[in-house]
Amino acid sequence: MIEESIKFSASKNVFYNPNMRFCRSMSSLAVGAIGGKLDVVDAFCASGIRGIRYAKENKNVKSLTFIDIEKPAITLAKKNAKANRLKADAAVGNISRVAFEQTADFLEIDPFGTPSPYLIDGFRFFNTKKKAYLSATATDVAVLCGGKVAPCMKNYHSKPLNNDFTHETGLRILIKKIAETAAEFNMGMKPLASFSDRHYLKVVAEVTRSADLAYKSMKSIGHVWSCPSCGDRGSGDFPPEKCSNCGKDNEYAGPLWLGEIHDKAFLKMMSALNRKRRYEDKDEIADMLSAMGGEVGMPPYFYNVHALCKMAKAGAVAPLENIIESIKASGHKVARTHFSPIGIKTDAPYDAVVKAIRWRS
Ligand SMILES: C[S@@+](CC[C@H](N)C(=O)[O-])C[C@H]1O[C@@H](n2cnc3c(N)ncnc32)[C@H](O)[C@@H]1O
Ligand SMILES: [Zn+2]
Repeated sequence: MIEESIKFSASKNVFYNPNMRFCRSMSSLAVGAIGGKLDVVDAFCASGIRGIRYAKENKNVKSLTFIDIEKPAITLAKKNAKANRLKADAAVGNISRVAFEQTADFLEIDPFGTPSPYLIDGFRFFNTKKKAYLSATATDVAVLCGGKVAPCMKNYHSKPLNNDFTHETGLRILIKKIAETAAEFNMGMKPLASFSDRHYLKVVAEVTRSADLAYKSMKSIGHVWSCPSCGDRGSGDFPPEKCSNCGKDNEYAGPLWLGEIHDKAFLKMMSALNRKRRYEDKDEIADMLSAMGGEVGMPPYFYNVHALCKMAKAGAVAPLENIIESIKASGHKVARTHFSPIGIKTDAPYDAVVKAIRWRS
């Protein structure tokens, strides 16, 4: 097999999903953008392709360690590292056991489904660190972004909301869970790059040991709400029962992360690295990073203009470019979002957004 010029072997009893190439490329750019010298642990390594790409594509990977509960995965990952002239340590076992013996500057948590049950043990890898980096993938999108409350309460202690900005809500619930776990370890959390793509959600976060930063993270947790009748929406500590626009009942999600989900300077570093690489997904990555950059400084939700048009009974919807221009002209911030090709983020009030989305001949 070849992924981004890395040759490696697959095996029928070890997991490999070629559709996650984009996720691995984004994560590898994040490893490079962190800089310094990193001891990288690729827990849940399967064929080892992630860790191998991180180490081959970046100059700052000081050491690479594989962990997988399945022996055939570790045998294959070691073979693939060797074939790529990489020195890698490896441990067969449950991450929860290895966590007591191994440290990491950068830990990759890429399980099947939710990363939730592995977060506490994940933070044990940082026990001796003042600062570290956690990269976590969640493929339980149906739970984080679904309409059923119980499974999300069970895994994340939060209520999801299946509406037009559900993927942002799901991502923010995942980030909240990471921030809470970090805080239990007296660490503050800063998301560096977070995104929703295909069937998964991904977060790369910096965690720093400090009780003050842990408290600060906790203050970034709250709720989002939206009115299913008119499409008005908002965020804050607690959701108001009634819509401030039409007076009908609001729906809410949370608790979830209301702070920034990316660091703008970090995204710029990822973009600069992407320009130098010959990734197959180079253009898609550039577009994604640019849209993510526009989300910084914006509210923790977006508007799907078609859905809003319908809810606000605004008639025909104007072209997205026109909507953006008229919101800008009304003196408000507005940006596209990576969450949806027909989504906009803005600090404009509901009335101004509805006015802008209305098609005018
Ligand atoms: C989704 S795959 C990882 C894919 C890989 N990171 C990639 O990018 O190709 C999940 C892997 O985690 C391993 N695994 C499952 N539970 C585990 C646990 N508790 N500790 C360590 N590894 C585990 C599985 O054997 C499987 O190889
Ligand atoms: Zn309303």
